[in-house]
Amino acid sequence: MLKKIQQVKNLKNKTVLLRTDFNVPLKNGRVEDDYRIAMSLPTIQYLIKKQAKIVLVSHLGRPDGQIKPELSLQPTAKKLSQLLKQPVFFINQNIGQEVKNKIKELKPGQILVIENIRFQPREEKNCQRLAKQLASLADIYVNDAFAVSHRANSSVSAITQYLPSYAGLLMQDEIQNLNQALKPQHPAVAILGGAKISTKIKLIDNLLTKFDKVLLGGALVNNFIQAVGYEVGQSIVDTDYQVKMNKYDSKKLILPIDVKVKTANNRAIIKYINEVGKTDKILDLGPKTVENFKKDIQKAKTIVWNGPLGYFEDIRFKQASQEIVKAILKNKSAHIIIGGGETVSLLESKQNTSKIFISTGGGAMLEFLEGKVLPGIKPLIK
Ligand code: 3PG
Repeated sequence: MLKKIQQVKNLKNKTVLLRTDFNVPLKNGRVEDDYRIAMSLPTIQYLIKKQAKIVLVSHLGRPDGQIKPELSLQPTAKKLSQLLKQPVFFINQNIGQEVKNKIKELKPGQILVIENIRFQPREEKNCQRLAKQLASLADIYVNDAFAVSHRANSSVSAITQYLPSYAGLLMQDEIQNLNQALKPQHPAVAILGGAKISTKIKLIDNLLTKFDKVLLGGALVNNFIQAVGYEVGQSIVDTDYQVKMNKYDSKKLILPIDVKVKTANNRAIIKYINEVGKTDKILDLGPKTVENFKKDIQKAKTIVWNGPLGYFEDIRFKQASQEIVKAILKNKSAHIIIGGGETVSLLESKQNTSKIFISTGGGAMLEFLEGKVLPGIKPLIK
């Protein structure tokens, strides 16, 4: 049973260390996409309503334990303040007396964002001492950072040994939706794309045990096309993984029958899978494959999608992903779960409804659906 923030009887005047994932894209010192921040609002608003003092901790980027001003969390604090329409305080440190002094000044319902926790070299080592230092700032720990829950880091995992720890509202939503996907209503269809088969093979294997069909696209499908014995020409093939085709049922694991390739003279043309030549580069699915995928999507009662199906940065190879987005959104009766930064960027609107859940997780979503118990979630389970 997940320990939930709603189970804490009295939050008034309590200092809550809230782990969020504010790892958002920045451009010219501003937040470019606030989806993850917006998704954290329900928990923050809940804590404000309950009159807690909120100390918000997050990472941003991969500073590797160094102070990198361009990865400061200050712009995210500003964005949060805009979204909440209330002041949000920021301190350019994350542990120590000055942080404690600043927390003492907080009134119930006020928020302090502390600096990027990955400026501390010990964070990604899951250091116990850093966890203790963080814990000394607060009375309660709340983890709402589903998107980083696959990382055993001090502010995600070790911290739970030093404070009473609970899941925030976003964390609860993510777990509920992804758990539901692991016990899907049938027909259940997963659409998986993206670049590297080695990062998705466990997911493919796990979903094949629960889903009716797994439809493949993106560069990762090239490994399978090659394993079947077809030419992939200049296409990207992940050399870190060798696919063994004989363990797969071709009625469940669905490969393309046609693709769109870039030719040696930079033309985009459609070819059957057996027509791809040595100088071609496969960059998208072909129309016949898309039509077949759409038929499965239409009938599905559960749909999981992660990873673009083509090289969408070039408009000529964006079509399959676009058509699949449309087909997914047209299915009004399925439980739909979409995740991964690039995949989500293909959606025009990021509106969650009762039927569509857009996960904030990339790697975390993949590992959860692989069936792993994530290091940030395990300690939240009683
Ligand atoms: C993400 O963006 O997937 C999470 O914030 C985790 O980031 P990381 O891959 O740098 O650990």
